[in-house]
Amino acid sequence: MIFSSEIIKWYSQNKRDLPWRKTTDPYKIWLSEIILQQTRVNQGLSYYLTFLNEFPNIHQLALAKEDKVLKLWQGLGYYSRARNLHYTAKYIVDYFDGEFPKNYSDLLLLRGIGTYTAAAISSFSFGLPHAVVDGNVIRVISRVFGIKTPFDTGKGRKEFAITSQKLLPKDNSAVYNQAIMDFGSIQCKPHTPNCLICCMQHICVAFKNNNVRSFPVRLKKNKIKKRYLHYLMIEENQKVLIKKRNTGIWQGLYEFPYIEFSKSLTDLEFINSDSLKQLFIKKKFKICSSFSFKHRLSHQIINVTFWYIRSKEIKIKGFKKILLKNISKYPVSRLMEKYLNTINKN
Ligand code: ADE
Repeated sequence: MIFSSEIIKWYSQNKRDLPWRKTTDPYKIWLSEIILQQTRVNQGLSYYLTFLNEFPNIHQLALAKEDKVLKLWQGLGYYSRARNLHYTAKYIVDYFDGEFPKNYSDLLLLRGIGTYTAAAISSFSFGLPHAVVDGNVIRVISRVFGIKTPFDTGKGRKEFAITSQKLLPKDNSAVYNQAIMDFGSIQCKPHTPNCLICCMQHICVAFKNNNVRSFPVRLKKNKIKKRYLHYLMIEENQKVLIKKRNTGIWQGLYEFPYIEFSKSLTDLEFINSDSLKQLFIKKKFKICSSFSFKHRLSHQIINVTFWYIRSKEIKIKGFKKILLKNISKYPVSRLMEKYLNTINKN
């Protein structure tokens, strides 16, 4: 097939030298793919090396404390991926003696492993004929074959999965899967595809129609929710209150108490709010400073203000007191980290 052989030829001339391409160890492949779902290769590389250094094999990862795993993951976001990674390591050690299942359908049964990761592990580690379908693959295929079906629909997902599988050279799945992802991220980029020097020009439908950048087609607009959070760094004798969160996207991470509002408040409105007063019933407190910024997540814009408050003998159910200087030992969200970086500088 022209498409696959062009992709593989391009890869042989342009491939990046990446450590997870020099191994077939399913543990290392799995780790790299879970990290790379979260970030670009450049940033992912240092996380990958740090994880492998701390946990050279699945047994070490399984033995780790969750706080440690989350701390190492800090900055990548989407912490459920790290929790699933840890859970699945323990599961494989407990039930399979540390050996990864060696086929696609058994891999799919593991927590945190979906069709993409199962295809990546089964092809890169075991040479099995399963095509990966990620954002890069969808972009390349939709452009070259002019596929206008929105990829974020049931019909689109099916069409891209079937087309990808048809294009896969069954006897060279590992190289082809790496190749098409690299081609997507280096050559056929989302906003600045390098069409003028491209080996696909002669077969690319979108290039012929001069509408490369209108692919891939998406149906839904990302709905962005606005949130208004006020975090309280309540300090007494250099100790602050923190709690481990047990739900939501930041489950397992530590944070200061916070109050959420449904709308934006002025500083004065916040200071006079009932929610704040209720926290400090019969307790004296002094607001020392505040710091506001916007934090973007994939589906949310969080308008956040951190309030530095001094108070005596405050207790809040579920919160513990730790020395502020020790907070760097705890895993925290990027949002908390951004604030903590500002106070460390002062
Ligand atoms: N993105 C996701 N998986 C990748 C891989 N194996 N190599 C490079 N980029 C990737």
